[in-house]
Amino acid sequence: MNGDFISSDSASLDATNFDLRDLPPQFYEDPYPIYRRLREQAPVLRLPDGSVFLTRYRDVLAVYKDAQGFSSDKVREFAPKFGDSPLFEHHTTSLVFNDPPLHTRVRRPIISALSIKAIERLKAGLIERVDALLDSMQERSQVDLIEDFAAAIPLEIIGNLFDVPRTERAPLRDWSLAILGALEPSLSEEQLARGNRAVSQMSEYLRGLIVQRRNHPGDPESDVLTRLIEAGMGATQLSEKELVQNCIFILNAGHETTTNLIGNSLHALTRWPDERARLIAEPGLIDSAVEEFLRFESSNQLGNRITTGPCSIGDTVLAVHTRVHLGIGAANRDPEQFPDPERLDLARTPNRHLAFGSGIHQCAGMNLARLEAALAIARFLARFPNYRLGDTCVRGGRARFRGFLKLPCDTGKAHHHRP
Ligand code: HEM
Repeated sequence: MNGDFISSDSASLDATNFDLRDLPPQFYEDPYPIYRRLREQAPVLRLPDGSVFLTRYRDVLAVYKDAQGFSSDKVREFAPKFGDSPLFEHHTTSLVFNDPPLHTRVRRPIISALSIKAIERLKAGLIERVDALLDSMQERSQVDLIEDFAAAIPLEIIGNLFDVPRTERAPLRDWSLAILGALEPSLSEEQLARGNRAVSQMSEYLRGLIVQRRNHPGDPESDVLTRLIEAGMGATQLSEKELVQNCIFILNAGHETTTNLIGNSLHALTRWPDERARLIAEPGLIDSAVEEFLRFESSNQLGNRITTGPCSIGDTVLAVHTRVHLGIGAANRDPEQFPDPERLDLARTPNRHLAFGSGIHQCAGMNLARLEAALAIARFLARFPNYRLGDTCVRGGRARFRGFLKLPCDTGKAHHHRP
C-alpha cells in the first residue's frame, strides 16, 4: 500500500511509489493533490507493470490526437485480464476499444443519431421526467440525490433512445455498473463474475429486442436501435455480434458517467457556496457551469491507449505496445492550461477540458450528457435553492469512474405542520 506517497511532505516525496493498481484510500476521496505532485515531479510516470501514466494536459491531448501512434484496440491488454469470456468479447468489440475501420463503421450511425438536432426531440420528455422527480422529492424532506434523482435521468434518456419498454428498464443500471466496473485497474474474482454475467444477460436481452425491432422497425430519426440495424444491413455491414455489443456499449456509456456528472456537480456546489449563489442569481450561466463541473470533477478520470511503435513523450522513450494511461482528471487541473485550476469558476473561459476525450474517439454522447446535466442541475436549483447534504455521502470508490453511490440530502422543503 502506498500510504507513504501521500503522507510524505512534497520535499521527500518519491513519486515512483505511485501505482494505479494499488491506490491509497485517500486517493478516492481526493486524487487532485496526488495528480498535482505527479504532474510536477513525474509527468510521464512509469508504473510497476511497465505502463505509463500521463498527468500533463499537453501530453494527454497529444496522445488523443494521434490515433495512429496510439491505438485504442485492447485485445492485447484484455486477453490476460478477461480470458476467453463474455467481458472479453464485449469490450474488444465495442467501438471505443477499436481502431478504424471497425470504429469508423460503427461510429457513423451513432454520431448522426446523437447529433444536436437529433437530441433536441428528447428535450420535452426530459423536462417532464426531471420535474416529476423533483415533485416526488418535494413530498419528502430527506432524499438521496443519486437514487432519487441523478441515476433516474440517464436511465430514462437511454431507455427512450433505444425505445426500451418501460417495464424492462429495471436491470439496465446494474448491468451497466457491472460491465463498466470491470474496467477498473484491479479486479476481484467476484467483480469479474458479475461483469461476465451482466454481459451474457444483457446480450440475450438485446438479441430479443433486435428481433422485435427487425419485425417492427421504429422511426430511424429517433430510435437508435432501428438506425443501427439499418446501418448493419447497408454497405457498412455490422455483424450480429458487432450490433449487440455496440448497443450494450451505448446503453452503458451514457449511464453512470451522466449520473456522476449530476451528482458531482450538486456536491461541488455545496463546497463552493459563492459559486452556488452566483448560479442561482444568474441561471443563464448553466451551460458554462456544466463545462466547469466536467473539468473540475470529471466523471471519467482515466483514458487508455497503447503505442503502435516506438515513440517518446517528453523525455521518456516508449517501446512498441506500451500501455499509456491518460490522466483526464489530472490534465483538467493542469495550471499550464487552466489558470487557478483548483478553483471552481462557473464562468471559466476558455475551458477546453478533456472530460469527453478528444480526437476520433471523442465522446459521441457529449451533447446529450450536456443537455441532461444542464436541465437537471438548473431545475433542481430553482426548486431547492437551500438544499443541504448529509454527513454520510458515500463515494463509488473507483479510480476511473468518479462519483457518489449515495448523496443524502435535505431539500430544505420540509412540510412543516402548522400549529
Ligand atoms: C458526463 C457524461 C459522459 C462522459 C464524462 C463521457 C466520457 C467519454 C470519454 C472520455 C470518451 C472517450 C473514450 C476514449 O477516447 O478512449 C467517451 C466515448 C464515448 N461516449 Fe461518452 N461520456 C459521457 C456520456 C455519454 C453518453 C450520454 C453517451 C451516449 C448516449 C456516450 C457515448 C459514448 C460513445 C458511443 C463513445 C465512444 C466514441 C468512440 O469511440 O468513437 N457518452 N465518452
